[in-house]
Amino acid sequence: EDLGVVAVAFSGGQGKGGVDAGPDALIKAGLLDDLKEDLGYKLHYDGLIHSYDDLIPSHDPPIDNMKRPTACSKVNARLHEQTYEHASQGRMVLTLGGDHSIAIGSISGVARGIRERLGKPLAVIWVDAHADLNTFETSPSGNVHGMPVAFLSGLCKHDVFSWLTEQCLIPADKLVYIGLRDVDRGEKKLLRDNKIKAFSMHEVDRYGIGKVVDMALEYIGDDTPIHLSFDVDACDPVHAPSTGTPVRGGLTLREGDYICEALHQTGKLVGMDLVEVNPMILAKEGGADTWQVAETVRTGCSLVRCALGESLL
Ligand code: ARG
Ligand code: MN
Ligand code: MN
Ligand code: MN
Repeated sequence: EDLGVVAVAFSGGQGKGGVDAGPDALIKAGLLDDLKEDLGYKLHYDGLIHSYDDLIPSHDPPIDNMKRPTACSKVNARLHEQTYEHASQGRMVLTLGGDHSIAIGSISGVARGIRERLGKPLAVIWVDAHADLNTFETSPSGNVHGMPVAFLSGLCKHDVFSWLTEQCLIPADKLVYIGLRDVDRGEKKLLRDNKIKAFSMHEVDRYGIGKVVDMALEYIGDDTPIHLSFDVDACDPVHAPSTGTPVRGGLTLREGDYICEALHQTGKLVGMDLVEVNPMILAKEGGADTWQVAETVRTGCSLVRCALGESLL
């Protein structure tokens, strides 16, 4: 099977350095070799870790509370073309981040490719501790990695992202969250007002992950291709400590892997993002723990392998 891969070294959607080193760490850990050799994919990978330096202005002041708006827009517009190219060739698309703002480009590109090829919308399963649904008006931080879903769903529009045309968007009723546990007040209102389907950690506790995934898939319906956007911080900090915004009380490694395995089994997965692995963050905060970094990278690799078909038996 054909797999398009894009490695994105971008950290401008939030304030901490190091998340741009995520793709290199995942690839150095052997992720792409595993996909090729163990899982048998034919990789379409340019061998690059894109930092898009030519697109990043030295002066990029906030616009309407969005930090580094020009970098975020231009990098995502370029990434959009890359994932669109893969998707329109009928390839499954894997995007390695980078902070979660890159989902604006990766998902919009896949969505446009799917629309054009199959005449259908794309569904998105967003696995995250956070909803990343802030608009530029509701965001408490101004960080664009907390806003991608607002732009992708069309709930929020801004001239900065004017390249996001209608065919790039995800209908609000084709969006499902799993793993939420740190949702801002404005995001809660958006979830409610727009009746967006969300399984927080409370529902994971109540029903178990198996039932939650079943309900998520039932909600989407079985005629819709699926993109999985997996923020490694959905997993508990025990398994993914080396990330910019860790939140206690998250998914176990097996619950994360299970989501990925179950989505693979549907045969409907057409895209995946694995984001927010920051192999430098702990070192910067004065407590370098190489074991924790390695554990986070290992978790990220495991999630991707499961989504691409690795199974226990
Ligand atoms: N809700 C917070 C914000 O909007 C945190 C977002 C964290 N997002 C992430 N992709 N880790 O700033
Ligand atoms: Mn998150
Ligand atoms: Mn918070
Ligand atoms: Mn996120």
